[in-house]
Amino acid sequence: MKTCRTEHELRTLLRVERSAGRSIGFVPTMGALHDGHLSLIGAARQDCDVVVLSIFVNPLQFGPGEDFGAYPRDEERDLRLADQAGVDIVFLPSVEEMYPSDRATTVSFSGISEVLEGASRPGHFDGVCTVVAKLLNQTSADYAYFGQKDAQQVAVVKRMAQDLSIQTDIVVCPIVREPDGLALSSRNAYLDAGQRKAATSLSRSLQAGAEVIRNGGSPEDAEAAMALLLGDRADVELDYAAAVDPSTFSKPGPGGSVLLAVAARVGPARLIDNLLIEAKRT
Ligand code: PAF
Repeated sequence: MKTCRTEHELRTLLRVERSAGRSIGFVPTMGALHDGHLSLIGAARQDCDVVVLSIFVNPLQFGPGEDFGAYPRDEERDLRLADQAGVDIVFLPSVEEMYPSDRATTVSFSGISEVLEGASRPGHFDGVCTVVAKLLNQTSADYAYFGQKDAQQVAVVKRMAQDLSIQTDIVVCPIVREPDGLALSSRNAYLDAGQRKAATSLSRSLQAGAEVIRNGGSPEDAEAAMALLLGDRADVELDYAAAVDPSTFSKPGPGGSVLLAVAARVGPARLIDNLLIEAKRT
């Protein structure tokens, strides 16, 4: 496994691979790797000749007062896991490498970036789009792998890639969960044992919402069921419980697919989770 810290080094390594006709799969991360990331690497490993992983805690996607400073960082552990998972190249740029002080451009995304996560974290998706656009340009990967856990990020990135004519195919991989249902997240590391237990209420609320939809209930009924389950707890501070169309993030059409999405603060961690209920094909 090779590591590099500058765009120049990365491009030099990738030029060799591309000129040998090898396909490139790219997994962007902020490090603190867990099994969710490893599943993305596994998918890239299956599909592509060369797997590139980036580890960069992107300051642009954190708002004031968010956890940019506290975000877990353990380069040695991440490199060991990446190597074991079969990554070929790890790109570890510094903030200065990614954002020189004379940077003048930010990618601005409208529409679905203004609801749910976008409403709770103003500017978050502009930060995500700016870094992802830059990383996709730096790697010129054939495929890039994202987790469904960040469902809104997936929708935003797909749309951005289309709008900016980015050639890379965006591949979405399923959420990886603990046996008790908790979706894997680097932020789970913030939780103590009690908070860890309380955090399972997010996935349980999604199950409750799914049952409502499967029994013919409306999106509003599902939202109420999820909010009831989460709002009832003193140790969970509900941000939103929503049932939306998975592409537009607006009210789902009758009989269409429904994305159930929740966000809540549990102790020091702001956690998100979601469940996609596909429309029945007739
Ligand atoms: O999902 C993440 O870890 C980040 O938002 C990403 C895509 C690596 C951009 O910083």
